[in-house]
Amino acid sequence: MWVPQLNDLNQPMYLSIADALARDIANGVLRHGDRLPTLRELAQALDVTPGTISRAYSEAQRRGLMQGEVGRGSYVLDPQAKDRLPPPAAPGPLALGRAEVLDLSIIKPSGESLEYWLRDALVNLARSTDFADALDYAPDGGHPAHREAGAQWLRRSLPHAQWQQVVVTAGAQHGLMVAMSALSGCGDLVLCEALCYPGIISLAHGLQRRLRGVPMDEEGIIPAALRDICQQERPALLICVATCQNPTTASMSHRRRAEIAAIAEEFDFLLVDDDIYGFLAADPSIAPLAAYAPERSVYLTSLSKSVMPALRTGYLYSPPRLLSRLTSMVRSSVWMPSPLTAQLASNVITAGLDEQLIRMQRDEAAARQALAAQIFRGLVVRTQPHSYHLWLELPEPWSADEFTLLARAQGVQILSGSQFQAERGGALSRGVRVVLMSPTSRDELAFALTRLASLISTPDPRRFY
Ligand SMILES: Cc1ncc(COP(=O)(O)O)c(C=O)c1O
Repeated sequence: MWVPQLNDLNQPMYLSIADALARDIANGVLRHGDRLPTLRELAQALDVTPGTISRAYSEAQRRGLMQGEVGRGSYVLDPQAKDRLPPPAAPGPLALGRAEVLDLSIIKPSGESLEYWLRDALVNLARSTDFADALDYAPDGGHPAHREAGAQWLRRSLPHAQWQQVVVTAGAQHGLMVAMSALSGCGDLVLCEALCYPGIISLAHGLQRRLRGVPMDEEGIIPAALRDICQQERPALLICVATCQNPTTASMSHRRRAEIAAIAEEFDFLLVDDDIYGFLAADPSIAPLAAYAPERSVYLTSLSKSVMPALRTGYLYSPPRLLSRLTSMVRSSVWMPSPLTAQLASNVITAGLDEQLIRMQRDEAAARQALAAQIFRGLVVRTQPHSYHLWLELPEPWSADEFTLLARAQGVQILSGSQFQAERGGALSRGVRVVLMSPTSRDELAFALTRLASLISTPDPRRFY
């Protein structure tokens, strides 16, 4: 296995690795076609994160030194070859306006793990014989091949998933919008967790549904509280994030899932199981909520958190009786999610790259959780071993809004618990959501977390106003 000799330690590690690759090609140590180590292998050998190797490979690819191919790995390129990607143009508008804050507010996978792969994947897609299909209108629900790739992804948690019950969406937010619009009507009661993903709150307002938050404990929705609400009024839907809940990280046990499903049966409402974080479960053997009531559940996921948000590809899995309502809502909303990105997503899944990425992201999240546990020692933290985020309960007399404001003034962006309250006017939570995966490096994360910890212990933070 090729392991670079790193000479210049006065520059970022990823540049030193790219330089070493260039040097070894020039002096004949590496030749055209030689296989390069995987991100994981090289990260282990150099004792750095896979994100650093990914950046190094991305840089090497930009210089035309190597290429990555789905399913084959990464190879050294012939430096004289004409047939390689042109170097990227000068930074475009997306590079402008990067904020000067450490952003711990967006839940996303760490690193640019797929950036180097995507450069070649885009070119390979353009050259492939399927390209013409990906440029045309797709049938309802998506191309059968894209639905089959979706079913393959879903079989990780729903082992009997069939492609005929899969609907391709433009991400999980679109899936939520499709499910809420297709399965409830204007003015209907929609239930969710009392502290919930803000995308659900904005959707319910936009679609004029009455949203009610169900009280929670460390496993999420409390069955007795759900039952109380159902005895007053019949909900059309319950939207639930049963694993690594956003924002509290609450995760339901097998028993809790069975109890929630039984209440849905008893009071005859539908379940929308938003399992976007299911791949981060501490115990992957616990089946998704939808599996406990498959005839009345729509299962929902996307590749945004495991692969990359920009794919905008997600999947709904529906019992046959609800399928046509969902597919016609996809048509009404966007006609079809882009088959181009659905094809890229399918390539990731059929090449097994998704499994590699999941392993990598779970490991990275676990390392970052360990770091947070160390820095936040003595504070009240709710989390899961592989969660991308954690929930920090602030000590008295902090309020979540005041803390979030002052953290921002100190250059660290987080979200206050008040942004997650399903209903306005309830008791304000004293928690904040801290995302661990958004900083590019663990060092950057440690720096930001240390700032938060020292802000918490500041005797009178009003001096920062
Ligand atoms: C619980 C939950 N559902 C859905 C989404 C939306 O995901 P996507 O980017 O795939 O639209 C998010 C994003 O943070 C989320 O946390």
